[in-house]
Amino acid sequence: MAIRKKATKAKAKVSIKSKAASKKVVKLKSKKPAAKAKASNGMPKPSSKPFGKDGKALDGVRILDFTHVQSGPTCTQLLAWFGADVIKVERPGVGDITRGQLVDVKGADSLYFTMLNHNKRSITIDSKHPQGKRVLDELIKKCDVLVENFAPGALDRMGLTWEHIHKLNPRMVVASVKGFGPGPYEDCKVYENVAQCAGGSASTTGFRDGPPLVTGAQIGDSGTGLHLALGIVAALYQRNRTGRGQKVLAAMQDGVLNLARVKLRDQQRLKAGPLTEYSQYGEGIPFGDSVPRAGNDSGGGQPGWILKCKGWETDPNAYIYFITQAPVWGAICDLIGEPTWKTDEGYATPKARLPKLKAIFGRIEQWTMTKTKFEVMNLCNAVDIPVGPILSMKEIAEEPSLRKTGTVVEVDHPVRGKYLTVGNPIKMSDSISEVKRSPLLGEHTDEILSKVLGFEKNEVAKIKASGALSAPEKKEKAA
Ligand code: COA
Repeated sequence: MAIRKKATKAKAKVSIKSKAASKKVVKLKSKKPAAKAKASNGMPKPSSKPFGKDGKALDGVRILDFTHVQSGPTCTQLLAWFGADVIKVERPGVGDITRGQLVDVKGADSLYFTMLNHNKRSITIDSKHPQGKRVLDELIKKCDVLVENFAPGALDRMGLTWEHIHKLNPRMVVASVKGFGPGPYEDCKVYENVAQCAGGSASTTGFRDGPPLVTGAQIGDSGTGLHLALGIVAALYQRNRTGRGQKVLAAMQDGVLNLARVKLRDQQRLKAGPLTEYSQYGEGIPFGDSVPRAGNDSGGGQPGWILKCKGWETDPNAYIYFITQAPVWGAICDLIGEPTWKTDEGYATPKARLPKLKAIFGRIEQWTMTKTKFEVMNLCNAVDIPVGPILSMKEIAEEPSLRKTGTVVEVDHPVRGKYLTVGNPIKMSDSISEVKRSPLLGEHTDEILSKVLGFEKNEVAKIKASGALSAPEKKEKAA
């Protein structure tokens, strides 16, 4: 990988120098990196360093990050947490549009931007300027992966076609998020909720008698970013064998559909008869020819519903998700004070309960309304009944256990001060994620030009003077 090659070259240079100085015959060091010690089974020898002390999973991988808004940045942020060196290319003067969206602290990058761009470096380049193109070509040669989520065709219009990239660097993986895959909608621009609607999520979310609903979880943007990250890591793994990069595409419609997979399952089950686990069945309402909205029914075979808890009259989140899982039916009956339901023929089996689920949940709710959601959680979990308290974002932000695991992290930013973010949700024992603040616009431009690309000082000055790295007003002055 780029970093390792550079180190080898440097070693060779040192050897040549010392030869000239001493005029003695000095054996040149091999340009080939020393073969890693192998264990007897042919595998690399395990590290002798303690777990978590031997770098990160993607150390040595360099990413040319052309992403913006949410889907692409989610992907590259994950790769950065795994140790990749992520170089975010931004339009001079403006940067990623989210820097200035939903601003809460005047003059500071928005939380929208900071929470999606940790652990990255930022360089500003006008990708349509001849000198900007030159810098980009050099970056392509030095990076392992290019990630982008521009509108369809935008990368080609910059001159960065697959052929151009592959010619410069045949090992480069070129990864894209698009709204749709090849087909009638491939040229469309797409945002989160468009994808939720086109991927089958909205039509199956909400209540039967209401309109389709989008969800709060960003399954179109962040969900697709996650899919893309997996594609990139798999492509890098394959490259170890083939020596060749490849294109990776994650379409948002496909990503959402993948997450709504159980609903396509239900679509096909409809041919075999009504979906008995949907409360609609128990209420005697006929099914149409496509999967209906299921309200708060559980997506699995165990009936579930959201029930009120103590304080629901004033607290919009005093609710709990309650699952009447068959193996713990007896425990539920005891807990709510209906022990006869354990043996009563009308209640004892899941089949017998199906037509009266609404009434059963009504009875359970009478009990949950006498307790807080946390009391219900404790009482139920003590006897293995799965329940889910509806946690507000305030409660999540203040939850000590999430702080302890690094899932919720406090970060300091030079302009906005301290803020909370979500850390890496994927924990690895030998690759520990640290959350570092997002970069200011163009903060690392100089260091990338000199240290990554090896441009001399006068060359950097020349590129800067061309206006390829600065906002339009500065360009005018430079002209
Ligand atoms: N220098 C010069 N030009 C730059 C640049 C840079 N550093 N970075 C971007 N641009 C240009 C692009 O080349 C493009 O110009 P063109 O239209 O002349 O080719 C222009 O900026 C706009 O880029 P685009 O991606 O079209 O942004 P947009 O704001 O019009 O659309 C999206 C935004 C998100 C709708 C669109 O990018 C998209 O559909 N992306 C794929 C799906 C996706 O990821 N959606 C979810 C986003 S969270």
